[in-house]
Amino acid sequence: MSGLLDTPFSRSLGIDVPLVCGAMYPCSNPELVAAVSDAGGIGVIQPISLTYVYGHEFREGIRLIRRLTTRPVGMNALIEQSSRRYRERMSRWVDVALEEGVRFFVTSLGNPRWIVERVHPVGGIVYHDVTERKWALKGRDAGVDGLVAVNRRAGGHPGPRTARELLDEVADLELPVLCAGGIGAPADFRAALRMGYAGAQLGTRFIAATECGASDAYKSAILSAGEDDIVLTERITGVPVAVIRTPYIERMGLHAGPIARRLLRWRRSRHWMRTFYALRSLRELKRASLGTSGEQEYWQAGKSVAGITAVRPAGEIVREFAHAAGATGD
Ligand SMILES: Cc1cc2nc3c(=O)[nH]c(=O)nc-3n(C[C@H](O)[C@H](O)[C@H](O)COP(=O)(O)O)c2cc1C
Repeated sequence: MSGLLDTPFSRSLGIDVPLVCGAMYPCSNPELVAAVSDAGGIGVIQPISLTYVYGHEFREGIRLIRRLTTRPVGMNALIEQSSRRYRERMSRWVDVALEEGVRFFVTSLGNPRWIVERVHPVGGIVYHDVTERKWALKGRDAGVDGLVAVNRRAGGHPGPRTARELLDEVADLELPVLCAGGIGAPADFRAALRMGYAGAQLGTRFIAATECGASDAYKSAILSAGEDDIVLTERITGVPVAVIRTPYIERMGLHAGPIARRLLRWRRSRHWMRTFYALRSLRELKRASLGTSGEQEYWQAGKSVAGITAVRPAGEIVREFAHAAGATGD
């Protein structure tokens, strides 16, 4: 293994390439997760995408992935405390994933301590998504093994910092850090490793993979978009999400309406409003990604679209990125 690919992250999981196919609601399907792992990177299961979008019972979905690859896979645990029912369901999913042999967890939002307490005793590792130092400190105090640093170019919910700023901000915590955001081309991966990142988590690049279940229209939109076509909209979840500017997005506008905005600000109704947004957005994003929503072109993507020029098999993407990072000889 080349020097750049041999990092604390790849060593701790026993994988060849420190490249993660990040969890994506609604784009993570079992075939995509398995293909990235099988090629030497690691795919991360998004439980709601696995069950609600792709219709697999959770344990059966993991077993399907296990039949497609024997290599390690991960799971994303969104651990926001807003709903007790959701938290209970996530707790069951974590237990099932552990029973089925998953040993890599990526936590987002909230306090990851309860996940760490379950995962460490069986020898697994937990990386926590962070956009700023304060969340990194929270993760470190909860005992996580590494950080996923989500920068301002990322798909999903981007953070406020550049890749360089965020790495500098958390460097003294002495945890391995993965770069999330803006990595669309092999040279971007190599640059992140050279900057000092222990690996990278990609989302948008893998939507434009043959195995991804997203519609052809969504994949084509990623190929034709430039980075200036990526805008942030609050209309989907109430907090800014990176999407491709389409006529539909333009018609809707980018900001939450005045009533929603007031309700989001008001503490007691905020929870209710978030739940409303969550349920509505789950349904709308599912339809838009599968191409069953008519003209609702609600396509999440990050600025890494700039480096994405073709739909390719996920394994080829992993190998091409590995080659670019390995070919440096340092
Ligand atoms: C369509 C889409 C859906 C996403 N959904 C999730 C999610 O459910 N959970 C999560 O932790 N991150 C989610 N992300 C973030 C990705 O896991 C990853 O960190 C991010 O896409 C990296 O930026 P990139 O798209 O520029 O590669 C999503 C990203 C995209 C593009």
